[in-house]
Amino acid sequence: MTRLDIVALCGSLRAASFNRMLMKLAIESAPSTMAVEVLDWREVPVFDGDLFVKGLPAPVAALKARIASADGVLIVSPEYNFSVPGGLKNVLDWLSRGDDQPWSLKPVAIASASGGPLGGARMQYDLRKVLLYLNALVLGKPEVFCGVAQTKFDASGQCTDDVTRKFAIDLMSAFDRWVRGVAKMKG
Ligand SMILES: Cc1cc2nc3c(=O)[nH]c(=O)nc-3n(C[C@H](O)[C@H](O)[C@H](O)COP(=O)(O)O)c2cc1C
Repeated sequence: MTRLDIVALCGSLRAASFNRMLMKLAIESAPSTMAVEVLDWREVPVFDGDLFVKGLPAPVAALKARIASADGVLIVSPEYNFSVPGGLKNVLDWLSRGDDQPWSLKPVAIASASGGPLGGARMQYDLRKVLLYLNALVLGKPEVFCGVAQTKFDASGQCTDDVTRKFAIDLMSAFDRWVRGVAKMKG
């Protein structure tokens, strides 16, 4: 079986991010048939149509090329004010323009962690809406919402919650099947 080439984006930049911990757990839980590379978007400037027409800034061009070449994208993000964090939305806005935008028919899996009980659910539905418009193929199930995340990871970032660990395994094996299914459909 071919090894899938997956890239991952985290919606939080902070070092002690629970979403980064959840992303790391998902990567560690992925089947051996999948390799996951984390992409950094810290240097992406705020979208500006004038910059866009001059040519993509280097950090945007690099993200675009890597997402385009990947078999699928894992996005793990917090919810900010009931929606997608501005930084992550800004990345999606940069990578949304033109016929060669990299999301079209791209398999995507989503997970989120939050300090509150809903685990970022409202963010996920907004993110799904944006990705739908971009013609991405977002995995439907399992939905992974890690609520009250501060009780589910220890000081070293290890997940201490069996339910979250199981969700991470289930997400990544479902994503493996999803990516392969999409590839089969594309022929
Ligand atoms: C600007 C901002 C807005 C937030 N809005 C929400 C929110 O709408 N819903 C929620 O559950 N948590 C919200 N939170 C709390 C986050 O869930 C919490 O800070 C979480 O740890 C952020 O993710 P991270 O640990 O990956 O950085 C917000 C936090 C910030 C910084």
